[in-house]
Amino acid sequence: MASLADLRQEYSAGGLSEDDADRDPFALFRRWFDQAVVAGLPDPNAFTLATSTPDGSPSARAVLLKGLDARGFTFFTNYDSRKGRELEANPRAAMVFLWQALERQVRVEGTVEVVTAAESDEYFAVRPLGSRLGAWASPQSAVIPGRAYLEQQHAELTTRYPGGVVPRPPHWGGYRVLPRLIEFWQGRPSRLHDRIRFTHDGETWVRDRLAP
Ligand SMILES: Cc1cc2nc3c(=O)[nH]c(=O)nc-3n(C[C@H](O)[C@H](O)[C@H](O)COP(=O)(O)O)c2cc1C
Repeated sequence: MASLADLRQEYSAGGLSEDDADRDPFALFRRWFDQAVVAGLPDPNAFTLATSTPDGSPSARAVLLKGLDARGFTFFTNYDSRKGRELEANPRAAMVFLWQALERQVRVEGTVEVVTAAESDEYFAVRPLGSRLGAWASPQSAVIPGRAYLEQQHAELTTRYPGGVVPRPPHWGGYRVLPRLIEFWQGRPSRLHDRIRFTHDGETWVRDRLAP
C-alpha cells in the first residue's frame, strides 16, 4: 500500500474571493454546479448525505441531487430506508458535494421536509422503466436473502406492469433540504484555502470567511 503520509496534493486551480461569492449562496452554488457539469465531472450532482438518529448516531451515504430551487435541495429515495427512518425521526441533514477535479467542496446543513406527492409523481414518471420497477422491487436497506430475490422481484414486476405504466410506490419519493448553512471551499496553495460560509439568520444570508 502507498504511504498515506506521503499522499498530498497542492491545490492551485483557482480562488474564491468575497467578490466572486456575491451575497446569494444559491447563485454561487448554481455557478459552481454548472462549472462541474461543463468540466465533465462524473456524477456532478452526487453528494454525501448525512443523517442521524435522534440520539445523535450519524450515518452517511451518496445520493443524487434532482432539484434545486429557492427553497432548497431535493433528492429522491425510499422513505422506509435507513435514511428515511432517520429523517422521519430527526428531520435534519448535512450534505457534501466534492468536486475534486475543481478542488472544490460545498457543504450544506438544514432541516428536511418531504416534498409533495405531486412533485414525487412528476419525477418518478420521468425515470427509466427499470428504475421505476426497481423502486418497487427493492426494500431499500432491508436484509434480503440474496441477489436472486431482487432479480425475481424485478422479473415479476415486469410481468405485472407489461405496458410500462408503473405507479409510484407510496414508500418512494423526495425530500428537500432547506438550508440554513452553505459553505464553499476552494483549495489554495500552502493549505491557505478559501472558505466562504453563508448562514441564514431567518431573514437574510450572512456571509463570513472561515479559516481553512
Ligand atoms: C453515486 C451514487 C448515487 C446514489 N444516488 C442515490 C439516490 O439518489 N437515492 C438513493 O436512495 N440512493 C442512492 N444511492 C445509494 C445510496 O448511497 C445508499 O446505498 C442507499 O440509498 C441506502 O442508504 P441507507 O441505507 O442509508 O438509507 C447512490 C449511491 C451512489 C454511489
